[in-house]
Amino acid sequence: MNYRCLGSTQLRLSEIGLGCASYWGKEIFPESEAMKIVHAAIDEGVTLFDTGHSYSEGNAEKRLGKALRETRKYDMCVSTKAGTRLGKKGRLFKDFSPQWIRESCMESLRNLHLDALPIFQLHGPNCSDISDGLMSELYRLKKEGLIRSIGINTFDDAVIRMTIEQGVFDLVMLDYNILTQHREVLIDQLASKGIACIAGAPLADSLYSNRIFHLTEMKDLWYFARSVHSFRGKIFKGMHFRFVNTIQDITGAQVSLAYVLSNKNISSAVFGTTSEDHLRENVKASDMQLPDDVIKKIKSTDAKRFWFESALNGI
Ligand SMILES: NC(=O)c1ccc[n+]([C@@H]2O[C@H](COP(=O)([O-])OP(=O)(O)OC[C@H]3O[C@@H](n4cnc5c(N)ncnc54)[C@H](OP(=O)(O)O)[C@@H]3O)[C@@H](O)[C@H]2O)c1
Repeated sequence: MNYRCLGSTQLRLSEIGLGCASYWGKEIFPESEAMKIVHAAIDEGVTLFDTGHSYSEGNAEKRLGKALRETRKYDMCVSTKAGTRLGKKGRLFKDFSPQWIRESCMESLRNLHLDALPIFQLHGPNCSDISDGLMSELYRLKKEGLIRSIGINTFDDAVIRMTIEQGVFDLVMLDYNILTQHREVLIDQLASKGIACIAGAPLADSLYSNRIFHLTEMKDLWYFARSVHSFRGKIFKGMHFRFVNTIQDITGAQVSLAYVLSNKNISSAVFGTTSEDHLRENVKASDMQLPDDVIKKIKSTDAKRFWFESALNGI
């Protein structure tokens, strides 16, 4: 495993991180399996573990805390998020009030059994959510030593642009993968301001393969529903990238991760999985370099016009 710096912070982290979110954190997914995946990740040299206070109905963060306590690994680069609250009947709603952000931070510290959170991110705010009061509270938390870096998790261009203009955040976690190469312009601009980038969803939900149509297990149905709900425009675009599964000695997932890591402005690529085999396969991408012709093909495929992508996303 190779390690990179998180922008201008003092943090160093594995260039491949584990996302402790979605199906991995759900009660329906056996805890023993979830734990095994974290243990395997630590065994493979992963030091970045990304979660969120509201992820998986509030279960994911607690699960990660339990796994880290079991392994007595308190020096990992743990990243969590605040700003989404669980309401009645599990409904989620946004709350970026300074009071809730502090409360959420304190709950995350308890859930994760930590004295300080290495990475603390705002979870999907709008531009108007970033108030002076909120920023003052974040700085206070940092000054008190409860958080070590402040980030924004967003897939929204306007919020990323605002982050570049303001220059006050340490990092941005955005969706960057072979299907979202347009992000590269903003990633370069963030880097020029000393703001680190973490790639979330670097496997593009596996949409470059036909696995979303293999509905054999409960988790397959869940992933399928998520792709249709959140990434439907990308399902068709992904079909044009099927060639990544046909390259000798490297799997589609490894190609996908190696492509993201070929961008030196990315500090880490954080994928999600419910499979120890996938975990062990994916971390190998840290030592893989893609041949120039593969990178060229990934770029030229993206340059094609996918007029239906934005049309479908708008439905
Ligand atoms: N997606 C979002 O909206 C979002 C938003 C904010 C932050 N994030 C962060 O980014 C992390 C990753 O995002 P993500 O989980 O949404 O997307 P992802 O990592 O791009 O894709 C996960 C999907 O890839 C599959 N997969 C993993 N390794 C594979 C392999 N070797 N072969 C075949 N399939 C493989 C997983 O299935 P298996 O379980 O079968 O491996 C799962 O269906 C999250 O955990 C979270 O921390 C994501």
